[in-house]
Amino acid sequence: MAKPKILVIDDDAGIRESLKMTLEYDGYDVIGAATGPEGLNLVERDAPDLVLLDVKMPGMDGFDVMSRLRSMQSSLPIVMISAHGTGMTGADAIKKGAVDFIDKPLSTDRVLVTVKNVLEQERLRDENRTLKKAVEVRHQMIGESSLLKQVTAAISRAAPTNATVLITGESGVGKELVARTIHGNSKRTRERFIQVNCAAIPEELIESELFGHEKGSFTGATEKQIGKFEQADRGTIFLDEVGDMSPKTQAKVLRVLQEGEVERIGSARTIKVDVRVIAATNKNLEEEIERGHFREDLYFRLAVIPIYVPPLRERPEDIALLVRHFMETISRDSNVRPKRIAPAALDALQRYRWKGNIRELRNTVERLIIMSAGDTIEVADLPDSVKAPGNAATQPVPLKSAFAEGSGETKADAKVGTLREFKDNAERAFLVGKLRENGWNISKTAEAIDTPRSNLYKKLEQYQISQESDG
Ligand SMILES: Nc1ncnc2c1ncn2[C@@H]1O[C@H](COP(=O)(O)OP(=O)(O)OP(=O)(O)O)[C@@H](O)[C@H]1O
Ligand SMILES: [Mg+2]
Repeated sequence: MAKPKILVIDDDAGIRESLKMTLEYDGYDVIGAATGPEGLNLVERDAPDLVLLDVKMPGMDGFDVMSRLRSMQSSLPIVMISAHGTGMTGADAIKKGAVDFIDKPLSTDRVLVTVKNVLEQERLRDENRTLKKAVEVRHQMIGESSLLKQVTAAISRAAPTNATVLITGESGVGKELVARTIHGNSKRTRERFIQVNCAAIPEELIESELFGHEKGSFTGATEKQIGKFEQADRGTIFLDEVGDMSPKTQAKVLRVLQEGEVERIGSARTIKVDVRVIAATNKNLEEEIERGHFREDLYFRLAVIPIYVPPLRERPEDIALLVRHFMETISRDSNVRPKRIAPAALDALQRYRWKGNIRELRNTVERLIIMSAGDTIEVADLPDSVKAPGNAATQPVPLKSAFAEGSGETKADAKVGTLREFKDNAERAFLVGKLRENGWNISKTAEAIDTPRSNLYKKLEQYQISQESDG
């Protein structure tokens, strides 16, 4: 790390010299200026980390210099050196914008301690700023397409209100990001954002997850549990995959929305909660209602403000921006030297139909950054499915291939080389078949094939299976 650089502005050459000796001995770089204007020049030229500034100087005094510095570069820390008898107090200096002050005659220890503390504070503040920026950037919604602009406009309208929002769209389009952005731009932003993935929580646990339970209220309830609705009090609850809630849970959630209160399992007491609800689903809830899988009254409660996030293939203009954004953030996060992408490779990424949407694009870029050997990502580095021209719309395996009814030999056999590929294809085809049989109801399908819903959910993501892709 470079040595911290300290600028001493003092008209007294003796003081400049002694400060220089003391501080250099302690490992700092020191530059000196005899007048205010000279000091201001050095700030511009040498970008010091800290300024030690004498109050009483002929011409431009310390306070003039400080106000000039503040208008130039607001965050540079300034420590005032006050001569005895100037009448200036430490409080004056700090009120005018200094971070600290030291009295003359200068004590070596005092100088060193002050400088060390101020620089440490600055370092922490910098670190905080960087972290905050990184978080902000990670949660930024990237894209310039008119379709995405419609989404961001809806977010801006929804955010300041307390209205319930229902976000719909295919898997990986950014529904969670939309939910977080709404919360982040709402009056509740300092309160909690509690996320519940309704599909990943086993049926028998979801009620106590959402509403909590009292100790001993059922077998296994060895401790009291505070539910997510209570945890989200004054904040936002995000009910993700809300289309996968069982009818019983739907009824209870509806009650919370109507009454604004929850009841822990095993307790007759009602607890008032002030929670904003944002829900998301990749299902078509209107269809689910027709099938009798989703309550219409709950649907209307949730869809006060509906926001549909369109799939990436309908807004290919966003792809280049997203690729650049992911290349920057991912290489920074994984400490990889930033890479470039060849125009032809970017072209292929733009032509490809991203069935897994932005999540798939992000994963692909991440793999490319880590796996490609050179400094530039070339077409050759791309996954075969993306690279192959004409294959753009059929990825990874046509849904209707393996296990097609009536065909003795599956089409999948012909396309695969390894056992692993064969197994994956077979598993995928099996799951799609079962999902169709069960009207794409996740809970029912999971039950039918005797696997936890969470596992089924994972598989859907792994194979990028969705009802929409089952065309
Ligand atoms: N417009 C965008 N700009 C930048 N990143 C985005 C954008 N949209 C989505 N992402 C990123 O893509 C990934 C997937 O988004 P997200 O998890 O919000 O999708 P989702 O719709 O909730 O998916 P699923 O239905 O599978 O849960 C996340 O890493 C998210 O940060
Ligand atoms: Mg999600």
